[in-house]
Amino acid sequence: KRPAGAPDRELARKVTKVGIIGAGLMASQFALLFVRRLQVPVVITDLDQSRVDKGLDYIRTEITKLEEKGRLDSDEANRLRALVSGTTDKADFADCDWVIEAVFEDLAVKQQVFAEVEPHLSETAILATNTSSLSVEQIGAKLAHPERVVGFHFFNPVAVMPLLEIVKAPATNDETLATAFAVAAKLKKSAVLTADAPGFVVNRLLAKVMGEAARAVDEGTPVPVVEKALAPIGLPMGPFELIDLVGWAVAAHVQDTMVREFPERFYSSENLHALAKLQGVVEKDKHGKVTDLSKEAKKVVTV
Ligand code: 3HC
Repeated sequence: KRPAGAPDRELARKVTKVGIIGAGLMASQFALLFVRRLQVPVVITDLDQSRVDKGLDYIRTEITKLEEKGRLDSDEANRLRALVSGTTDKADFADCDWVIEAVFEDLAVKQQVFAEVEPHLSETAILATNTSSLSVEQIGAKLAHPERVVGFHFFNPVAVMPLLEIVKAPATNDETLATAFAVAAKLKKSAVLTADAPGFVVNRLLAKVMGEAARAVDEGTPVPVVEKALAPIGLPMGPFELIDLVGWAVAAHVQDTMVREFPERFYSSENLHALAKLQGVVEKDKHGKVTDLSKEAKKVVTV
């Protein structure tokens, strides 16, 4: 069945090579998914070779884990490993027909990486952005072909979360959108089409939950109490466990975007921003549940 708002699937373009800009955890997680589900070459890039190598290491390690769990046989695991490569030269993206970025959540940075890669691509190649809350229209605004830009927003952990938000900017054409839905189906994700509005759908709600949890801490309730108090309402993770999963800096950026767009509706916590600068913000038990802030984090939190 065609998802609501998806154009005719006949319009979808074939994807024979995937380029990924950014080799951080989110990008590496979906690089693995692309190679596994599309079975096409996947090339990843980042600012320098050490970042690229870190991404490649992650992907190879995860392939080995899947092999050890018996989910991939050794031939398939070797084939997937051979399909993944890294580069620091955007010219290596020349034959990619699907390029997706997951770089720092900053409009200028996202505009820049797309502007750098666009001259190397064919006119029909698609540029997808994994932005979590920025305007897809603005991300594509400076390109020669903004009609090929689409939002393609994954959720953490990428391997497990079933949803993908596909975001149509005003310029996005039907071929691009149809390809995005076709790729989502191949990735075995359930895709929803959202408007190009700040935070789309999911982060608009999550930013509220995270912001109010941070406000409760700012008002003097300790982190473990907020986590424990919310457990009975059936959230799969407490708000701080979830912030720790998506990354404190990412959560702070999403919060900034929402506050900038809707100052009367969202809350900006100085503490959240201070914690976003630290490594190891929380302590966890053996099940991965957040038990408290780390000693270091407690020193920067002011209540
Ligand atoms: N990475 C990869 N795989 C993971 C994982 C991780 N971080 N965490 C769990 N898994 C896998 C496990 O290996 C397991 O796989 P298996 O069945 O093949 O062995 C499977 O997920 C289930 O794991 P658990 O038994 O530990 O399952 P839980 O019941 O604890 O559920 C969860 C784990 C699905 C992650 C659940 O806690 C959950 O849904 N949490 C909420 C996550 C969420 O809301 N994410 C959205 C964040 S917002 C975002 O990303 C947007 C961004 O823009 C900010």
